[in-house]
Amino acid sequence: MHHTSSLEISASAYSQNIAFIRSRIGSKPLISAVVKGNAYGHGIAQLVPIAEQAGVQHFSTFSSDEAREVLASSTQSNEIMIMGMLHLEEIPDLIQLGIQFFVFDYERLEKAIEAAKSLEKKAKIHVEVETGFRRTGFEWEDREKLLKLLQNNESNLELKGLCTHFAGAESAQNHPRIQEQIDLFEKFRIFFAENKIEFERLHTACSAATLLFPETHLDLVRIGISGYGFWPTRETFELIKSQLPPENRNPLKRLLTWKTQIMSLKQVKSGEFVGYGKSFQASEDMTLAIIPVGYSHGYGRNLSNNGRVLIAGEYCPVIGTVNMNAVAVDVSQLAEIRAGDEVVLIGNQGKNEITVASFAETSDLINYEMLTRLPAQIPRKIVD
Ligand SMILES: Cc1ncc(COP(=O)(O)O)c(C=O)c1O
Repeated sequence: MHHTSSLEISASAYSQNIAFIRSRIGSKPLISAVVKGNAYGHGIAQLVPIAEQAGVQHFSTFSSDEAREVLASSTQSNEIMIMGMLHLEEIPDLIQLGIQFFVFDYERLEKAIEAAKSLEKKAKIHVEVETGFRRTGFEWEDREKLLKLLQNNESNLELKGLCTHFAGAESAQNHPRIQEQIDLFEKFRIFFAENKIEFERLHTACSAATLLFPETHLDLVRIGISGYGFWPTRETFELIKSQLPPENRNPLKRLLTWKTQIMSLKQVKSGEFVGYGKSFQASEDMTLAIIPVGYSHGYGRNLSNNGRVLIAGEYCPVIGTVNMNAVAVDVSQLAEIRAGDEVVLIGNQGKNEITVASFAETSDLINYEMLTRLPAQIPRKIVD
């Protein structure tokens, strides 16, 4: 089937990013590739084999459906960890499949114990503790009751991890709060250790914590955005810039290129309005290229009169409003141009580049949001 646009996902870029993360964390901690949000828009089915090639054997998802997709896309035996949503009635199936999951409340923990007992198996759990993010996690006050449950059900639980999540390690203004979280996590660790509860791995770090707080590396780091080639924030980059090798000041490489082609060309006369309403009036005669990508494809409406694309290696501005399925760009300055010519929405063409950051900055979206809005239906092709 033909689609209106396509994505290319670079395997070598992912390998380079993982190698960079490895160079920061040393050989001990395991790297878990965070592939929630359809692998941050890159496609779980594409990302899993790419990550396997890069030496990754551990994957983190938000939900059970994503975990099953990782399993279906795996070509080797991987560990798969659900950090968020699952339905309680799925737990027996997840245990059978060997899929690991976070427990952050008694209901889920008790259901896991009950299901493991009746299956005569062990549920592979990660105990998430609340240290300050205030989304999910057992509270400090829960520790005694939690301890009893873990002690009394040792034979049905495989304690894969003790974990927490930081509330914005990518921004220096949050760092005092992150430090409090680090300290509280340490208190939880000591409490369980003193009570002879052993977890296979301690883990807390996302990309920003991994890059900025070496003490959070512990046994495993959960790497999302930096694996895909983006700094969690510009500030993260600024904070570690001086530690980067002078010959390679930006070791993170974007994996993603988003391409389409010109659907048709349109001549517009000076004074005419373009598209819905009156947001753009031509001040001279113009040639417009109509591009078959709109907000239903993840090309945000806030790029109306604002975004730009690459055609024939040149930047071409978006004219008028972004429609559901199409957008007009000004190609008046290009000499030879035809329907079918390649259009780059994100990526390189000739000497120029449209980065996700520039795209996201213009549209007021952070990288994370822009990436995960790319619909799953856009075909994704793995390239070197
Ligand atoms: C629990 C958890 N761990 C790790 C990550 C990965 O974060 P990042 O993409 O910043 O590396 C996320 C993403 O938000 C998360 O929710």
